[in-house]
Amino acid sequence: MGALLETYASYPFELVRGEGDQVFDREGRAYYDFYGGHCVCLTGHGHPRVVEAIARQAGRFLFYSNAARIPVREQAAQALVDFAPDALTRVFFCNSGAEANENALKVAVLLTGRRRFVAFQGSFHGRTTLAMGVSDSAKMHAAYAGLLPQVEFLPFGDIDALAGAQLSEVAAVIVEPFQSMAGVRGASPAWFELLHARCQAAGALLIFDEVQTGMGRLGVPFAANRFGVPDMVTLAKSLASGVPMGALLLGDTRAGGLSQGDLGSTFGGAPLACAALIAGLEVLASENLMQRARDFEQRVRARMLQGPVRGLRGSGCLLGLEVPGGAAPLKAWLQQQGILVGSSNDPEVLRLMPPLTLSEPAMDALEAALAAYPE
Ligand SMILES: Cc1ncc(COP(=O)(O)O)c(C=O)c1O
Repeated sequence: MGALLETYASYPFELVRGEGDQVFDREGRAYYDFYGGHCVCLTGHGHPRVVEAIARQAGRFLFYSNAARIPVREQAAQALVDFAPDALTRVFFCNSGAEANENALKVAVLLTGRRRFVAFQGSFHGRTTLAMGVSDSAKMHAAYAGLLPQVEFLPFGDIDALAGAQLSEVAAVIVEPFQSMAGVRGASPAWFELLHARCQAAGALLIFDEVQTGMGRLGVPFAANRFGVPDMVTLAKSLASGVPMGALLLGDTRAGGLSQGDLGSTFGGAPLACAALIAGLEVLASENLMQRARDFEQRVRARMLQGPVRGLRGSGCLLGLEVPGGAAPLKAWLQQQGILVGSSNDPEVLRLMPPLTLSEPAMDALEAALAAYPE
């Protein structure tokens, strides 16, 4: 038994290196990484421009806290708001998805004076107290009764339930535009329209948790570009191509209601993460990665709904493969073929969340492995 606390079920092999869309185990075996290190590796493993930007920044300034203004932090914030929808003009940097959501929920409480939240059945928003509280998991909540916030969980995508929800005492409604962990479940544009309208009418702030859907993964910058711009957007995972980073995006009006000291984080906006974020956004643009994410989805739709895969959910490089009867054997088969994919809380859905730099050989390998699946 090693010193590391074993809180995860891990692969039966040790990974020692990554390059582009592949990772390599100790024996030198290569795997195409359609799991993307859990939806993180936006620009692939060790993209030279990202690595170079991190190394350059490390030589210049490894770290200084938010007590000082640092050019790379200001540049990263500007680059991120330039990439985001126009109404999202301000950034608070932190270190993870849970922290981004925790801060968004705190901001909602500060700005509304209300203390209740609405979230959706099947949601996952992280493991800090408020973020866990708005995650729909009786198992995660079991030990913490009394410590968690008051949350109502509505059925995701259900127009009637949303129309009838009581929102007048609600500080924030938080939603994943695609519920990734639940099996990449989506909702209709009409439902999102109603969601915006109901929140606005009730004075409840709307938070899009774009920890998985953000940063171009859907083939557009954010789900907010497609489903309407909410009061706040939270980001992590792909944000800095693998360097830990979280962010909360909001508009001038909401930001104006906050005071110095309301939010804080020692490592938030650390120079290495900021350098990686800027480089990642440059790579997104120069390598046309959002188009490549859309092309990947088209290819999966056109050629990979075969054999055990009967349906597709999601968008761009966040896809759910529907495998009626159970997806676990297909996941194991793909792993044997040198392809890593993600499972989900839906036993009949596998997730594809690869780097947007995915190569033709990687797609060929996935297509061939699906075609060769022994049913
Ligand atoms: C949608 C969503 N929100 C929040 C989180 C939490 O992010 P982190 O693990 O960085 O705290 C996750 C993690 O999987 C997620 O998928």
